[in-house]
Amino acid sequence: MDTILLGVNIDHAATLRQSRYRDYEACCGKMIEPDPVAVALAAEQAGADGITAHLREDRRHMQDRDLLRLREAIQTRLNMEMAPTEEMIRFALQIRPDSVCLVPERREEVSTEGGLDVAARIEDLKATTAAFTAAGIVTSLFIDPEPKQIEAAIKIGAPCIEMHTGAYANAFYDVPAREREYARLCEAARLAHSAGMSVNAGHGINYINIAQIKKIPHLHELNIGHSILCRSILFGIGEAVREMKARMGV
Ligand code: PXP
Repeated sequence: MDTILLGVNIDHAATLRQSRYRDYEACCGKMIEPDPVAVALAAEQAGADGITAHLREDRRHMQDRDLLRLREAIQTRLNMEMAPTEEMIRFALQIRPDSVCLVPERREEVSTEGGLDVAARIEDLKATTAAFTAAGIVTSLFIDPEPKQIEAAIKIGAPCIEMHTGAYANAFYDVPAREREYARLCEAARLAHSAGMSVNAGHGINYINIAQIKKIPHLHELNIGHSILCRSILFGIGEAVREMKARMGV
């Protein structure tokens, strides 16, 4: 079995920062935490193969400046998640991440809820993918594991797909439903691989379901955010409290 790469999605580090320092530009102090760039560098030190950040239209977590700083600082690969809008395409072509992952975006969602319906917009995504390819940026399409979407991704000429694992993750404790979702992921992975595309997966992957997710055939990379950030809080809280007590002198 080939090694599966790990892309760490650090959006929630920015979510936490924004919850206190929303007026980021106006904050004159240096202690604006957590800094997503510092989080990215620590993730790389621990073995992350790439860093993913989603610049949303509403800028609810990552800011433009974060992407610019990540581009400068990280040593692995920067994967920019983005909706395929004119504004984001222009920004991505300016900062040149190593790859882009095209996702749907709805303002009311908590995080990306469904795959991009690439079958409904083959022509414009073909042009977008071609523009990124010409700029040396790999395009990945975040899609539900459906043959119709994979066939469309082939027509678009995308070198890569990221399968949405959210439906599988949500069904995890309903075993028959989970197995149905798992079979869909495996089938979709085979189909995409046989067409020569790289197969990534992400959304809702955690420390429990990874045992089965990692057995999906032909996986190139998994993009994981929420559960890794949750673990880091859990394992970091003891040290953080000890340091504060020490600084308090008690
Ligand atoms: N991949 C994509 C395309 C995403 O939009 C997200 C975040 O919603 C992830 C992976 C990571 O998902 P999670 O935070 O649930 O690990």
